[in-house]
Amino acid sequence: MPSPMEKNDFPVSNIRHFLEPGPIVLVSSQWQQQANIMTMGWHMVMSFSPSLLACVIAANNYSHALVRNSGECVINIPSAALVDEVVGIGNCSGSEVDKFQAFGLTAGEASKVGAPLINECYASFECRLHDAAMIERYNMFIFEVVKAHATPSADEEESLHYRGLGEFMLSGRSIDRATLFKSSMLT
Ligand SMILES: Cc1cc2nc3c(=O)[nH]c(=O)nc-3n(C[C@H](O)[C@H](O)[C@H](O)COP(=O)(O)O)c2cc1C
Repeated sequence: MPSPMEKNDFPVSNIRHFLEPGPIVLVSSQWQQQANIMTMGWHMVMSFSPSLLACVIAANNYSHALVRNSGECVINIPSAALVDEVVGIGNCSGSEVDKFQAFGLTAGEASKVGAPLINECYASFECRLHDAAMIERYNMFIFEVVKAHATPSADEEESLHYRGLGEFMLSGRSIDRATLFKSSMLT
């Protein structure tokens, strides 16, 4: 059974630290009494401040309607230990399954949105819909991250990176080249 993880505040303008280059995330959402989770790989950081993210949530996903109706969601980052849950959540629909219960995950209360946090993930970013202009055409939701939470040991977590055909890559070691950057470019 996965365990809930305690998190501290994390600056919303720094969330790219966790999102580049595109870890697999779990999107939690809620509309009226219905909460749901979906797996997502197609997201992109768009701006530091406001902290904007673009996410593709297919129109036939149950989550699409929940996020569109509520105008909110939480982007949660699972560690590699949750890989089986990540696949399972991406292979069933919230219209038929209570995914929190089915996958042994617990919902935490967000501070700025109605959608739940997923306590077993090492980072959670509360999002509000910022621009709906691309939804109809591309299923692309542009969100503002209004609150970010990360565990103190988040840098040691392995994230999942989906390569298609059932294969995941895990994040690896880091190298530091800060001294090679122009100071004005070091963000
Ligand atoms: C590794 C992985 C990545 C995925 N990435 C996306 C994505 O970026 N956008 C999307 O709409 N669906 C994506 N999916 C598919 C959804 O997670 C899947 O359709 C899910 O069942 C939707 O759940 P829902 O109908 O309860 O919202 C992905 C699935 C997996 C396994």
